[in-house]
Amino acid sequence: MADARPFHWEFEPPKIPRERFLVEGGVALDGTIRVSGAKNAALKMLAAATLTGERCVFSNVPEIEDVRVMAETLSDMGVVVDHPEQNVYEVSAGDVDWLFVPLEAAAKMRASFMLLGPLLSRFGEVVISNPGGDRIGRRPVDLHVDAMRAMGAQIDYRYGYYYAKAPGRLRGTEVRFPFVSVMGTENAMLAATLADGHTVIRPAAQEPEIDDLILFLNKMGAEVSRTYPDTIEVVGKRRLRGAEHSVMPDRIETGTFAIAAGVTGGHVVLEGADGGTIAALVEVLEQTGISVTTGDGRVEVDARSIGPGTMRPVDITTGPYPELATDIQPPTTVLLTQAAGDSRVHEAIFEDRLEWTGELAKMGAKIDLKGTQRAVVHGPAKLHAADVEISDLRAGASLILAALAAEGTSSIGGAHHVRRGYENIERKFLDLGARIERVQEGELGNSG
Ligand code: UD1
Repeated sequence: MADARPFHWEFEPPKIPRERFLVEGGVALDGTIRVSGAKNAALKMLAAATLTGERCVFSNVPEIEDVRVMAETLSDMGVVVDHPEQNVYEVSAGDVDWLFVPLEAAAKMRASFMLLGPLLSRFGEVVISNPGGDRIGRRPVDLHVDAMRAMGAQIDYRYGYYYAKAPGRLRGTEVRFPFVSVMGTENAMLAATLADGHTVIRPAAQEPEIDDLILFLNKMGAEVSRTYPDTIEVVGKRRLRGAEHSVMPDRIETGTFAIAAGVTGGHVVLEGADGGTIAALVEVLEQTGISVTTGDGRVEVDARSIGPGTMRPVDITTGPYPELATDIQPPTTVLLTQAAGDSRVHEAIFEDRLEWTGELAKMGAKIDLKGTQRAVVHGPAKLHAADVEISDLRAGASLILAALAAEGTSSIGGAHHVRRGYENIERKFLDLGARIERVQEGELGNSG
């Protein structure tokens, strides 16, 4: 590990091929597609597989960039990761030669920090990059670090890296969070599975992906249970075994396509979806007047009877599950541009999740920001094509939705952000009758 001194000032982010989406709007989406596996469950399961030396097999894993980055990060550490067929990953962490998670992984993906708990608990040490990078303070990981310290870990922070050690085993304890954190809960839970004794995590996040992770951990021989909605208890084991698991459906992808049906006045059936996990969004859609039917592993969204200017405005506030997911707020904001009247949006989780609405405004949306976390959406706005730029994953999917509802052909730069979390999004939109194409920047000359 002596050569691994990580200097942030030597780091240059890798060059990413520039791609754009070209989207011709004005088509009411119509058809059936199958929802992929959940990004936010699959990533944690790949990390959890390092809790054992035996082979873990995952199916229904989404083919997305974040999964590729997690698999590559594991391989670089000496973990054997096989990808025998589409959507199937096998992980064997018998030997981990290099207990080091580099800045390259952290810069691409915050979920790389999910390796802290399992590696520290199984191997007693890890050096892991701060995923906040130079944006320390904006999306901190202090809760994760405090949870490990509560379990007896010694953690120092130097040059952008956490140097974590657990002399002997981590100790089961009461982990109390000041507020709910999804990955904080998961990191504590993974660490606790191999700790000495009993751990109680409170308040534990209630996202369904955490319960899917619990199912997988228990197949590995862990003893994890949600004893109250906001409490997870773990009885630590000396070792865990390999296991197989099929990843739950992605509720954010489900919600994105449900909104696509709504915003284009179309009719979409989502197969392999779990309507129960998007209840808060279904309520919002129904308040706007869109019809949603859920059950039997499918979600059907019908907005064909909503005429121009008849969609009702709705005030929304994001929150921890079961409240409306912050990840579905940007697509919902696009939908609300089409409602007849003013809708208020309160983004209560993150402070930078409304910035992208500047791009939406270029397409004709009328949005007044009230500080960084509140906005008023004035509808109905007649959206028109524009040349816009994606700043992050969820904003990217949302700009596609806006372009689908707009008149003319929009050019949307930064398509790689969408690849991080949506499997083959343009194929799915094409299957619903959308006119969308992904092109290399070079093919567009100097347009952007
Ligand atoms: C996860 C999801 C992300 C989703 C978010 C909220 C993954 C890979 N990502 O992110 O898609 O948008 O939940 O549902 O599952 N916080 C701290 N200190 C910490 C940790 C978090 O202050 O140590 C703050 C965050 O800045 C944020 C809030 O807590 O304001 C909630 O964040 P958290 O639930 O931890 O989000 P993530 O787990 O990072």
